[in-house]
Amino acid sequence: MEADKAYLEAIQHGRYSEKVKDLRCKYDHVRIQFEDFITAFYLRPYVEDIVEAKAKTNGEGLRFYDLGCGTGDGYELLSKMAGNTRLSEFDTRLIPQDMVEQYKGIDLNVALLKEARNLFGDYDHVNFCKGNFSNGLPLEEGEQPYDLYFTSYGTLSHCDDQELERLFVDIGKHANNGSIILCDFIGRYSYEWQNLWTNELEKQPYIDYLINYLYAEEDRDNVDVSSFPLRLMSPAEVSKILESAARKAGVELKVEKFFDRSLFVGRHIETGTYNGNPQPLRLMVSSLFERGLRTYFPDLKVRYKPKPGFDLQNKTLQTLAESWNKLVDYTMVLMEHYDSDEELLPYPPHTELKPLEKAYRVMRQTLEGSKGLYGDIRADLIEAQLGYALRSLEMNLQSGQGVAHGLVGIVKVVK
Ligand SMILES: C[S@@+](CC[C@H](N)C(=O)[O-])C[C@H]1O[C@@H](n2cnc3c(N)ncnc32)[C@H](O)[C@@H]1O
Repeated sequence: MEADKAYLEAIQHGRYSEKVKDLRCKYDHVRIQFEDFITAFYLRPYVEDIVEAKAKTNGEGLRFYDLGCGTGDGYELLSKMAGNTRLSEFDTRLIPQDMVEQYKGIDLNVALLKEARNLFGDYDHVNFCKGNFSNGLPLEEGEQPYDLYFTSYGTLSHCDDQELERLFVDIGKHANNGSIILCDFIGRYSYEWQNLWTNELEKQPYIDYLINYLYAEEDRDNVDVSSFPLRLMSPAEVSKILESAARKAGVELKVEKFFDRSLFVGRHIETGTYNGNPQPLRLMVSSLFERGLRTYFPDLKVRYKPKPGFDLQNKTLQTLAESWNKLVDYTMVLMEHYDSDEELLPYPPHTELKPLEKAYRVMRQTLEGSKGLYGDIRADLIEAQLGYALRSLEMNLQSGQGVAHGLVGIVKVVK
């Protein structure tokens, strides 16, 4: 298996499985502060509904199935998911641990499963096993339905269309009315692989994916990394497969939402493997969240080059790039004025874009509010706040078009 070999190389490299304190590793700040956060943010209302419904039953517990679980990151994401709590509350967890009846994780890769068991195997309700979702949904005889069929980080792009349809048919039949499927794919029109964009979708269904992003720029060209095919997906392509699977399963597979994740901070934004215009944006955004480290702001700006013939994609990406850059520029202006001890920091330029207007306001208030504090206010406070403000821009200026590293669909099974 090509994918299995590539994941094994990444594990051996050390940065895939360990939480290395480094800005370029599997668990960098972008993964935690942007990607995990955004997935959890959009999934949360559905998990809230499930928790609420279970609370009304006679002690029924929550059941999660994580397909392509790797080292069990899905369990961590779900169990740490925060509810819509008030600031004054201490416990933010949405899912009480004693409410989880079962979390089942399957993966092809035994090395990852071993690490998953090391990390979470002590919990009675957690169970990891080897399984292959390319042959349909792996199930034991009489296995009860799950409330959530979860995938993460492009996992479903490992399937070809027939495999995916079969998986959706099996889930559709196995699930309860109201169960949720979180479908995580690789987005077709990410700026990271602009060279592969095409309007003739059948000509380029796959990206030959490389996990070379874990290596430093100077080592990247010298290492021999295996590649494997991942299905590039647009919302229309996902919907077509879902519709066909729903017909075959005799259920409705209702798309509740599509969202784009990592428009300019995907893993390949800085490799240039599939785009002639690489930029160190993921590293720079990760650096914003690193305490005690100042980020070089000019490298934080997006140099977006539109591709002719893709007006819709260019419009979304260009709007985000412009807003992103304006916010970085304004923050630099604010910092200069802060340094000159001016009484009043400059007000932002006028904009019709509400998300940008709000982000400007947040940055100005942050700098105003930090006057008089001790320490490296820039590294520890202003930069992190800029990271959150850029994340808000990304979240509010996308609409799930497949223009990012990840295209994620939230699907409800209706019976
Ligand atoms: C992108 S990784 C995601 C891993 C993990 N869920 C995470 O959040 O980091 C995809 C995972 O799917 C697994 N995988 C790929 N094809 C598979 C298949 N056909 N059946 C089961 N697992 C598979 C890989 O071994 C890998 O762990």
